[in-house]
Parts: sequence; structure tokens; C-alpha cells
Amino acid sequence: MVEDLRLDSLEGVGPVTTRKLSDAGVHNVMDLIVRGPVEIAEITGMEKDTTEKIVNKARQHLVEGGLIAKDFVSASEIYKHRQSIGRITTGTNCLDTLFDGGLETQALTEVYGEFGCGKTQFAHTMSVMVQKSKEEGGLEGSVLYIDTENTFRPERIVSIAQAHEMNPEKVLDNIIVARAYNSAHQTLILEEAGPIIEENNIKLIVADSAVGLFRSEYLGRGTLSTRQQKLNHFVHLLSRIAETYNCAAIATNQVMASPDVFFGDPTRPIGGNVVAHTSTYRIYFKKSGKKRIARMVDSPHHPEEEVIFALGEAGVIDPEEAEKKTKKTTKKATAKKTKKSEVETTVETPEVETTVETPEVETTVETVMEIESDDFEPLEE
Ligand SMILES: Nc1ncnc2c1ncn2[C@@H]1O[C@H](COP(=O)(O)OP(=O)(O)OP(=O)(O)O)[C@@H](O)[C@H]1O
Ligand SMILES: [Mg+2]
Repeated sequence: MVEDLRLDSLEGVGPVTTRKLSDAGVHNVMDLIVRGPVEIAEITGMEKDTTEKIVNKARQHLVEGGLIAKDFVSASEIYKHRQSIGRITTGTNCLDTLFDGGLETQALTEVYGEFGCGKTQFAHTMSVMVQKSKEEGGLEGSVLYIDTENTFRPERIVSIAQAHEMNPEKVLDNIIVARAYNSAHQTLILEEAGPIIEENNIKLIVADSAVGLFRSEYLGRGTLSTRQQKLNHFVHLLSRIAETYNCAAIATNQVMASPDVFFGDPTRPIGGNVVAHTSTYRIYFKKSGKKRIARMVDSPHHPEEEVIFALGEAGVIDPEEAEKKTKKTTKKATAKKTKKSEVETTVETPEVETTVETPEVETTVETVMEIESDDFEPLEE
């Protein structure tokens, strides 16, 4: 491990350069890699030749310390490296199956879906699960939660922690919440996050929602390209941070109704291609009565599959858990001599059965992808 990540530990980086860099929000060697030479030249006013040299030195320094991979590596080394990627359990069997063991570190996972489909609940649940011991499927790490919609609820964290028999106060202490007020602020939080991630053993970064502020600030088609450019910067930064600092990252993205769609699901992810291209994994959440469907849409190595999950006091839960709860409620209701007909409506959840078989989901996602590419001009990387 490299003990010294201070900027002046790099050969040729003296106090003047160190000050220039830290004034621009680049605080350590990791930050140099995350931001890259072009951006560093832009924000510090330094020559690009110089910043390239500095960033190369930083890369060498981290490679020597075993913190990042070499530029040229054999496939077997990559394979070995991938074995060391951390996984965070979702606390459910169904979603763990979908994620092939859990949410991965060094990757950006985009969760998109309509309002109320459980994106925020999922982010809350993962904020608790990442703190579990390694034996229990966690990473014993903390969380940086970027809340752009003011929907972070400590009360939910408390009940999720209690449901998993964890100490709620400790769990709350390990979540650093950054409330972002506008898209520039949201980006700034991430740009400044390096030292916080390092000092607090952050293993999960949440951006909920990653896209909302950009969308509300850049309205109309004329501003689309600027919006996508800025969003591109944010999402790339998030992805690079996840890779460099070995943490998991979740970006949520809403879908919106598209009136020009006649078949399938008339929705598409707001972030468009930018988020889709940058994220390593994309999960589509869809409401289905009281249950939810999660589908792995885009992954370099997972099959395109889907599972059913539910939402409850414990955050995201297995559908069987939800059924047990319903039965319990039913029993209580019967004890109270509630009218038979009422009870039956609660117990029976026929919607779920039908949804599993429906081919609509298939068409849905495809439609989403198609429309998305029609509607958003892809940005040049
Ligand atoms: N304590 C709870 N117990 C059970 N279900 C809950 C609880 N709290 C919230 N929910 C469920 O979570 C849903 C809201 O989910 P969530 O806030 O994650 O949606 P979202 O996808 O983030 O939506 P948006 O796009 O509006 O942000 C509610 O409709 C409800 O079904
Ligand atoms: Mg939400």
C-alpha cells in the first residue's frame, strides 16, 4: 500500500504546484488520476504538458503501490484483480441473484425507473448493507450519499438497520450526507470528495438522483447538448472515483413519459445515452402492483435477466417476505373480525403472477433503449 498520497510526495511537485492544485480542489495523488491531465490543466491554468507529466507520475506512484492496475496487463491478471472486487449484498436473495452476488465495487451501477419504483429505497438499503461485516456480505465501509432531491430519510435508515439487527445510531454515523442544491454544486461535491472518501473508508457513493438537477436546470432542446456535456462530466467523475477508490457507486435516474410512444412502455430514462454509456451496470426497476421487477439491462457479463422484489420496512426485500407480512396482517385483520371480503383483497396478489409471465417487460426495455438513442444525440467521448 502507498502510505503517502500527498501531492508533494511526487517527484517534481513542489509547494507552488501543490498549492495550485489544492486551490483547484485536487488534494491528493488519487485526485490527479480521477480528474486527468486535460481537466487539471483547465482548472489550474497549468500547461497541459506539465499536467500530463504530473498525472503520469501519479499513475506510476499508484501502480508501484499496487493501488491501481498497470497500463498493460495480462488477462489473467485482470481476472485475478476482478476476484478482489468487493461485493455488497442487497440483503435479498432475489437482487443478489440478479447482481451475481451483490453490488460491485469499482463499478457504477445505474438504477432507473419511474417515480415510486424503489430507487431511493434501494439506495437507502445499500447504505446500510455496505456497513455489514464481510462475513455477512458487507464491506464494513461508510457511505457518501449525495442527495439532490431532499429524499434522504434517516428514519428509513433506522428501520432498515433495525430490521437487519444492526445498531441504528452507528449505522447513521457512517453515512455522510451531502445535500446538493444545484447541478454545479452536485458536481463540486464529487470533485471535492477525494479526501472524504479516503479518511472515512467510504465504500459506497450514492447519487440520488444523478440526473434530476441537470434536467430541471437545462430546459428545452436548445440546452440539451450543454446539459448532456455537464452530466457526462459528473457521471464520468463518479465512475472514475469508484474505480480509483475501489468503492461501489449508485446513480439513480428517473424515466419520463414520452407521448410519442404507442407500443410498450411509454417511458425512457432522462439521462439518455450519457448515463447509459458510462455506467457499468444498468438496472431497470418497474412497478408491478405491490411488487417490483428489477431487470439487468446492460452488463458486460450478466445475462439479461429479471427478478421480482418488494419494498418494506427493511428496504428492498424478497417477495416471500412481503407475502409473510401480508399473511400476518391478514391474521390480525381476521382476529379483529374484519369483513371477509376486505381481507381477501389484501391477501391475494394476482398481479404478481401475471406480471412474471408478461412479455411486455421484454418489449418495454427494448423500447426504452430504442427511443433513447433516437432522442438523444450521443456525445463524443
Ligand atoms: N416504510 C416503508 N415500508 C414499505 N414500503 C415503503 C416504505 N417507505 C417507502 N415505501 C415504498 O417505497 C415507495 C417509494 O419508493 P422510492 O422513494 O424509492 O421511489 P423512487 O424510485 O426513488 O421514486 P422517485 O423517482 O420519485 O424518487 C413507496 O411508494 C412505497 O411503496
Ligand atoms: Mg427517489
